[in-house]
Amino acid sequence: MVDEEKPSFPRLLWLIFCSVCCAFRGRILGQARKSIADDVVLITGGGRGIGRKIALEIAKYQPKQVILWARSLESLEVTASEVTALGVPCDFMICDVSDCEQVYQRARETQEKYGPVTILVNNAGIVKGGHVLEAQFEDIKKTVQVNTLGNCWTMKAFLPAMISTNHGHVVNINSCLGFSTIPRGGDYSASKHATLGMMEALREELHEKGVAGVHVTTIHPYMVKNRMFEGCETRFPNLFPPLEEDHVAMETVDAILKNKGMIILPLLQYLTWVARSVLPVETMLHALKFLGVDVVLTKIPPPRQPVPPRQAQLTKQDPK
Ligand SMILES: NC(=O)c1ccc[n+]([C@@H]2O[C@H](COP(=O)([O-])OP(=O)(O)OC[C@H]3O[C@@H](n4cnc5c(N)ncnc54)[C@H](OP(=O)(O)O)[C@@H]3O)[C@@H](O)[C@H]2O)c1
Repeated sequence: MVDEEKPSFPRLLWLIFCSVCCAFRGRILGQARKSIADDVVLITGGGRGIGRKIALEIAKYQPKQVILWARSLESLEVTASEVTALGVPCDFMICDVSDCEQVYQRARETQEKYGPVTILVNNAGIVKGGHVLEAQFEDIKKTVQVNTLGNCWTMKAFLPAMISTNHGHVVNINSCLGFSTIPRGGDYSASKHATLGMMEALREELHEKGVAGVHVTTIHPYMVKNRMFEGCETRFPNLFPPLEEDHVAMETVDAILKNKGMIILPLLQYLTWVARSVLPVETMLHALKFLGVDVVLTKIPPPRQPVPPRQAQLTKQDPK
């Protein structure tokens, strides 16, 4: 029975002690990296941006197969050929992750062709921005459909096979706005908070089921030097410079190879996590204002629209 399996209080203390020691030992001595030679990696939003960089970085560790999903054919083609040039087989499919039916259809095609996906990197994401009361209904809906529900559909499609073989890894490229908030980022932040909640619950459920071979990782990057938050700057850009896509990709792949549960990039942002938990809300409001974070999202560029596929390839890739 479940009750009989509950640890006693002394055992709980022992488990806490062991896990803290393991974490520190890993930090100090360095952690071993797992081999991904037999793994099939799927990256959503893998054609460009951080997803593209993750594909190129993970290819260095020679997985069995990489598969990229996104809506724009041309960037998928280019990235897939770059990954293939590194000696790793790479395929791509057009898939809008906000469309549940399309995700299940593509997942069936992927698994028929390459067998079970064992490393799922949920990276696809969009941001629109705007005050909560001014944001358009369609924009709020789309943000949640891509950033939150998209993760849900891919996990439902690929996790059962991972659980049945007790082997796999689910990764979410979240954001520092997945545990903190700033004005004009309400819908994005809500979508990322929701995904963090889902990932944490998933980790707990896998633990409850005793599925120790399936790992869950969330990556929380601060702003990255690319188009998504282009033009958004704090009052102290030298203290909080945007991250490089390469750095985020490298840390993400390192976290996958070492089965890390969560990382926040850069390290300084761990302070935000702690500050939000312990400081009074008024203090946080003053701090946001002082740092100029309250107006950082006034200049978000509009999300890039998918590039429509050429007709011939549309017929080949998308039977709809
Ligand atoms: N950039 C930042 O400052 C930053 C900071 C923290 C976290 N993040 C997170 O990092 C992830 C990647 O962002 P990025 O910076 O690489 O942005 P990006 O360059 O705009 O890339 C977004 C990727 O998602 C894909 N995508 C968008 N909507 C999609 C949909 N409905 N279905 C499938 N794919 C879709 C895009 O491809 P198509 O348009 O071709 O579909 C593209 O490959 C996102 O989850 C984002 O929230 C970014």
